[in-house]
Amino acid sequence: MRCDQTSVWKKLQDASSSFTSFDLSQAFAQDSHRVDAFSVQAPHVFADFSKQPINAQVQTLLFDLAEQTGVLAKRDAMFSGEPINTTENRQVMHWLLRQPAKSLTNHLSSTLKDVHVVLDDMLAFAQSIANDDTFTDVVHIGIGGSDLGPRMTTFALQTLAISNKRFHFVSNVDAHEINTVLQKIRPEHTLFIFASKTFTTLETMTNAQTAKNWFLSQGGTDTQRHFAALTSNTLDAKAWGVGHVFGFWDWVGGRYSIHSAIGLPLAIAIGAQGFRDFLSGAHQMDQHFLNAPIQSNLPLRLGLLDVWHRNFLGYSSRNVAPYHAHLKYWASYLQQLELESNGKRVDLQGQALSYQTAPVLWGEPGTNGQHAFFQMLHQGTQVVPVDFLAFKHASHHWPQHQQQLLANALAQAQALMMGRNVKGGHRHMTGNRPSTFFLMDQLTPATLGAMIALHEHRVMVSGAVWGINSFDQWGVELGKVMANDLIQKINTGDSSGLDASTAGLLHRIR
Ligand code: F6P
Repeated sequence: MRCDQTSVWKKLQDASSSFTSFDLSQAFAQDSHRVDAFSVQAPHVFADFSKQPINAQVQTLLFDLAEQTGVLAKRDAMFSGEPINTTENRQVMHWLLRQPAKSLTNHLSSTLKDVHVVLDDMLAFAQSIANDDTFTDVVHIGIGGSDLGPRMTTFALQTLAISNKRFHFVSNVDAHEINTVLQKIRPEHTLFIFASKTFTTLETMTNAQTAKNWFLSQGGTDTQRHFAALTSNTLDAKAWGVGHVFGFWDWVGGRYSIHSAIGLPLAIAIGAQGFRDFLSGAHQMDQHFLNAPIQSNLPLRLGLLDVWHRNFLGYSSRNVAPYHAHLKYWASYLQQLELESNGKRVDLQGQALSYQTAPVLWGEPGTNGQHAFFQMLHQGTQVVPVDFLAFKHASHHWPQHQQQLLANALAQAQALMMGRNVKGGHRHMTGNRPSTFFLMDQLTPATLGAMIALHEHRVMVSGAVWGINSFDQWGVELGKVMANDLIQKINTGDSSGLDASTAGLLHRIR
């Protein structure tokens, strides 16, 4: 049933009207068990959401909402391989990529075998490249989910990466990016990885062809040895002329593909065991999502909290503040995951929604954000919930820095909640500003895998409540079609049929 037609939706609306005066500090004073009630220890990830504007009554109503909108049934359908991506009639099985070999005896057991054949091949290739000193540079060419996953994870786990290789990422069709990379590398020492699920994306096809032309113009000869492709379109990839093709399936969405062969750069960087640890962390979170009771089910409670924020407290954005410099791309990764999944305006039947869906998601690592936009978070007119991420242990030996980093993360969450009561005016801070604090032991492959899986399932939960298809992305098609038309018009100057603005800009460009 659509969420806004459930009986509990009205109850949540009534409950939210009393939340305008909800005081976080008071809530703690009134309940000494508040932290226990609003925190969960999931595999590799502890989350404390007790600084969120929520109480036991609302939590119960949110669980009822999940029940009445069939969230757990949708979850079970996903893990059973049902085609829940209804507009493309596809299964949604990114979770199968990290399912251990031979661990299924049902109708998916043969598909699982295929997954492990590709995984073993990809890891063997990654290891061979890692061990081959001929290759000093790896250039990964892809965009969207074929870029953000490899880029974010390879950057995040750089302290574990082999030291004899440099990793470059090219995604934008703006040739300033590929040009800068090509000036740093030598063809005979470079592996080019061409990542595209469809093998049709304009930016990636253009960058890959430019890389190939450059390689040949520089005297490179063996494209078979120096080019690999990661795609679900293996036929076209072989025809294009790469020597190594690693496939994945249509039931892996681009923004959910990092645990597939798309993870090749990461596997080269951290090795086969590191990548298997990365898979294992994600699998443990999958099992948690599948089996944990609702009260201790972290993806479920976070997804429901996102609905409470969006549809009842009226928060239109969420800030992500990872207190780790190597999670520089974490917010960008989550942007695609959440906004391409839940940035939708119609339900599964194509009917326009009467309620809001995905919030704007944005962020930068702490402590930098404190010197850029935390002013607005503390004293702005709009309330923006913040997700803080912090890690107890660093991968460096500068303890003073780590103490300061953690102290800042804790302090910002505390200051947002407590505020500062100064008689009126500029220095007064209302406090009562919400945040969730994620605390992990250390940034490792397993922890990162678990964090990714947690957010994949969090997004699935809110999408299921909203009754939308979180697994298609029709909204990106129109721009691509228009761009192809305008490429011709920029060349010819023919502005017929264009709106006045685009025509005017076209003429200025020419
Ligand atoms: O942004 C649209 C999109 O299709 C994403 O879903 C995808 O990750 C990206 O473009 C790249 O697609 P491909 O991997 O097929 O090149």
